[in-house]
Amino acid sequence: MRFKRTNGMVARATGLPERSNHEALCLTVWPTMNVKDQARHSSLIEVFEDVVPAPLLLTINATIDATQSDWQPADGRREAVMARSFAEQLRENARFYALESQVCSEARQWSETALKRDISDMPLHVLRCVGPAAAKQSYLRHFDSHVLTMLIPLRLAEQGESNGDLVLHIRQRAVKWALLNLLTKMYLFFEHGLPFFLRSALVARSQSIEGCERIQCIPGNVYVFNGLVTLHHNLDVAVGERRTLIIHHYDAGLSVGARYLMRSVRNLRDRLAWIY
Ligand SMILES: [Fe+2]
Repeated sequence: MRFKRTNGMVARATGLPERSNHEALCLTVWPTMNVKDQARHSSLIEVFEDVVPAPLLLTINATIDATQSDWQPADGRREAVMARSFAEQLRENARFYALESQVCSEARQWSETALKRDISDMPLHVLRCVGPAAAKQSYLRHFDSHVLTMLIPLRLAEQGESNGDLVLHIRQRAVKWALLNLLTKMYLFFEHGLPFFLRSALVARSQSIEGCERIQCIPGNVYVFNGLVTLHHNLDVAVGERRTLIIHHYDAGLSVGARYLMRSVRNLRDRLAWIY
């Protein structure tokens, strides 16, 4: 099965040289660990066009509409069973199934080379439904714990500067120093606790210095990137709601203890916010 496969759309000028799709794919989405000039490459994400059928998107959105008022928190983060059922519906579609198999195979190959390990685990499914009331979920720069991130846009917010777009930072990290990974994770966790105005200003300043790609998603397409090495965050949403299904594959197992600690603190914070 063939896919129309392109690299990500660049919304902010980077002034970077054009490269062939194959070269960009090898050096950026799945970077080799000893490439010295990674920051010069502009495309960090692959776009697979017209994979998810419109009727399936309608069905998924209708299910969300019918259940969303009962969710706690209302952004869908805890609706893991529903997220997994949406992913299973997608896998019944031959195009999606073939695409997922293909990118999983590439991610495993990258892991064998870059991480020197064969990783295989169950995918993690996350639903993310963000509107204007969820500003605290924006500008949260982070690296994923998983090697492969598949992003499936379900519904877009109203277009504009604050529409919840995904932003990828161009400079990718090396993952071979465990202590540095742990310190980075702890710093980013601290940054997530800053007030919105401070955090957004900090991240915007960093964006303008380091360079980034703002990914303009289209429902029906599937977006694939290596979240383990690519720092990323979402913009806030001013009007409407942005819905996304995210499938993470292959937990790299870095800084496991820190991750569980931070997740526990985050869950506690959610519960307190709900109670009070
Ligand atoms: Fe992420």
